Amino acid sequence: MNGHKIHITCINGSSIDGRITDVHRHFHQWSSQEDQKFLKSEIKKADCIIVGYITYKRSVNLLKNKRTIVFNRRNIKYLGNNIYFIKPNRKTLFKILHSTQSRKALVIGGMNTYSWFIKQNIVDKWYITIEPYFFGTGLPLLKIKEFKPKNARLESVKRINNKGTLLLKYSINK
Ligand SMILES: NC(=O)c1ccc[n+]([C@@H]2O[C@H](COP(=O)([O-])OP(=O)(O)OC[C@H]3O[C@@H](n4cnc5c(N)ncnc54)[C@H](OP(=O)(O)O)[C@@H]3O)[C@@H](O)[C@H]2O)c1
Repeated sequence: MNGHKIHITCINGSSIDGRITDVHRHFHQWSSQEDQKFLKSEIKKADCIIVGYITYKRSVNLLKNKRTIVFNRRNIKYLGNNIYFIKPNRKTLFKILHSTQSRKALVIGGMNTYSWFIKQNIVDKWYITIEPYFFGTGLPLLKIKEFKPKNARLESVKRINNKGTLLLKYSINK
């Protein structure tokens, strides 16, 4: 790619059993306040947020005034300043990131969007908070038909509250 280096980080909250939400995709508050605080601070630091349409609809308030790329296969009309609706496509994605001078992009989900990114082999870091919680069923972090297994390197792990929510930071081998 031409132009400046773009750093891509995925961020998610997970249960002990590796789920990111319940089976009905409800957006109830199962993650801790500390996790929410961390997410907000990372959103603030990022130059651009990337999100799937389902998650976008539920996170509009969190993303106010933030440059946002929304993955969506249907043709949704342009909805406002600094919001780009695109089909999941590498060329279009990087074109927008370059043209907006975005160096730090943050992918905030959900499952389909994380899956696309890891499969494209373009993720530099992955931040996961693990809540001491079991869903038993629900949406996994990733769902990919064909995938070449990949290594990650744990950079840090931190307990962020009394109940034992863990914040793990990984760098991803590309
Ligand atoms: N625990 C967490 O940290 C966390 C974070 C984010 C979201 N979530 C949860 O995840 C759930 C949503 O995940 P999700 O996977 O259902 O939806 P999503 O990734 O948020 O959005 C999916 C939509 O975006 C478009 N899209 C994204 N990736 C695509 C791809 N690879 N190929 C084609 N289209 C793609 C499609 O839009 P069209 O169908 O319109 O084309 C698709 O319907 C929500 O319940 C949310 O609560 C949890």
